[in-house]
Amino acid sequence: MDPTRDNPLIRIKAFIDGLGIFTFFAVVLLIIIGLAAAFGLFSKGETPEDAAGDIRYETKTEVDAAQAAFLTPEQISAAIPEVSKELIASKPVAVEKAEQIVPGSETALNLENAPAVDTTEMDAAAEGDADAPIDPAVLEKGKAQYIMCIGCHGENGQGVESVAPPLAESEWVTGPISNLIKIQLRGLAGPIEVNGRVYEFANGMLPMAYQTNEQIADVLTYVRNSFGNKASAVKPEQVEALRSEVGKPQVTVEELTKP
Ligand code: HEC
Repeated sequence: MDPTRDNPLIRIKAFIDGLGIFTFFAVVLLIIIGLAAAFGLFSKGETPEDAAGDIRYETKTEVDAAQAAFLTPEQISAAIPEVSKELIASKPVAVEKAEQIVPGSETALNLENAPAVDTTEMDAAAEGDADAPIDPAVLEKGKAQYIMCIGCHGENGQGVESVAPPLAESEWVTGPISNLIKIQLRGLAGPIEVNGRVYEFANGMLPMAYQTNEQIADVLTYVRNSFGNKASAVKPEQVEALRSEVGKPQVTVEELTKP
């Protein structure tokens, strides 16, 4: 028989050792549970309601921040004189919507008195391109855009009696491109002589500046190479170069370059 079995001191020591080992494992277990909880292993996952709540909370935070950053009514009133000064100082030289210019207004007068853009270089460049091949895709797009002209100038560019002059065999159509671009951007007030006949209509042709540079270039390239006409293509950059013409009164033959 083991004599230590009956030694109470040894028994107590064994008990305390056991307690220590038990505590050690208990602590390790607690740490593992704690870590697992920290990494969300026990959570059941976010419900759609929670997600919606998070989004609402984020949105509200953003709105609150935006409102906090907004100017106070006092700050706005203080800024108005400065802003209006800037607006007054920035007089437009060109406007997109010619029909919105008040006749006789300062803008209208400024535009009327604005110096003409020198187009000699542009017209010479286009003449130099006379023999360059025309992109069939551009002709296709131009033909589609010609819908805008067809009612007045006719399906084959033959013109419509008492509506508009012909584009077929028109020296203007195959002439300097700046004329054609200006007619699109500003419209045209007759009289104008086309192929030996003088035309004049009460309202002339109204500006069609709402077309994009590309649409104008395409339709002009199309009319210059249809109905028996043959001339160089018109490029969108060339239209862009004359955008400052928009808003000026309808162009007259005196302002155009003689074809
Ligand atoms: C609402 C009618 C109308 C529409 C639409 C119209 N035009 Fe005209 N166009 C006229 C009139 C009218 C004249 C002549 C102005 C005058 O004599 O007062 C004219 C003149 C012209 C001229 C110069 C004269 C000539 O016959 O060569 C060209 C070029 C021209 N238009 C091109 C076009 C093109 C391209 C379009 C389409 C993008 C177009 N027009 C759309 C009515 C129109």
